[in-house]
Amino acid sequence: MISSRARQAVSAAALSGCLLVANGAATGDAAAGDRLAAARCVSCHSSTEAIHSTLPLLEGQPKAAFIAQWRAFSERKRTAPVMVGLAEELSEQDVNDLAEYYAALLPPRAAESSGSKTGRALADRLRCTDCHGEALQGTSAGAARLAGQRALYTVWSLLLMRGGNRSHGTAAKPDPLFANLSNAEIESLAAHFASLR
Ligand code: HEC
Ligand code: HEC
Repeated sequence: MISSRARQAVSAAALSGCLLVANGAATGDAAAGDRLAAARCVSCHSSTEAIHSTLPLLEGQPKAAFIAQWRAFSERKRTAPVMVGLAEELSEQDVNDLAEYYAALLPPRAAESSGSKTGRALADRLRCTDCHGEALQGTSAGAARLAGQRALYTVWSLLLMRGGNRSHGTAAKPDPLFANLSNAEIESLAAHFASLR
């Protein structure tokens, strides 16, 4: 059985697939990605289970960003053991299929929370949109989608990046952009992103 959401993803991916083929870039099979995700990813990356609230949502991640994160796991620049293991195991075609599938979905929208107004002003001041796109939905240049990401996961990523334990794009490690952010400011940025879609 294939859900209507998955069907939408497949048809959207079929369209973008045409464009990609026209550009000569590698393309994936969203239906194959859907099957693989159901078998291997939803147990952790589920957008419906509250129990997984610290894990990243993958819906709506642009293909380039998905593939860049995948590469970071296979090159062990990111070290979460389960992801490093999957990056070793799955083929390039699998990764393209998964990227195609997730790129065509949308993350759920979280309610605005108390911090999100402060976070919006801070994101404007720090110009996160310069790289992450006008609506913070990520870009084909590899910047990740921030809109709709779970607040707890964004906080976790920003803490790692502020401490220099995870790189942030091509910036110096630790990225000076985050050096002066307090924990409260990081939480408000994350609340703002989670309230977007
Ligand atoms: C057992 C749990 C588990 C399973 C199963 C799992 N993941 Fe993950 N995944 C994680 C964790 C934990 C992280 C965050 C790692 C970190 O903080 O560095 C992650 C991170 C990621 C990221 C980076 C997201 C971001 O925005 O930073 C991607 C992409 C990803 N997983 C894809 C997948 C795909 C595709 C599958 C299925 C083929 C999968 N994962 C299966 C636990 C899992
Ligand atoms: C110079 C370009 C640039 C700017 C400016 C920028 N980012 Fe990024 N960011 C990137 C790139 C590229 C990635 C994806 C690669 C990576 O994770 O290193 C990324 C990844 C991230 C991630 C990880 C997302 C995930 O799903 O794993 C977070 C969180 C983040 N950025 C937050 C921010 C915030 C907050 C701002 C504004 C204060 C910001 N970025 C400004 C380029 C940028």
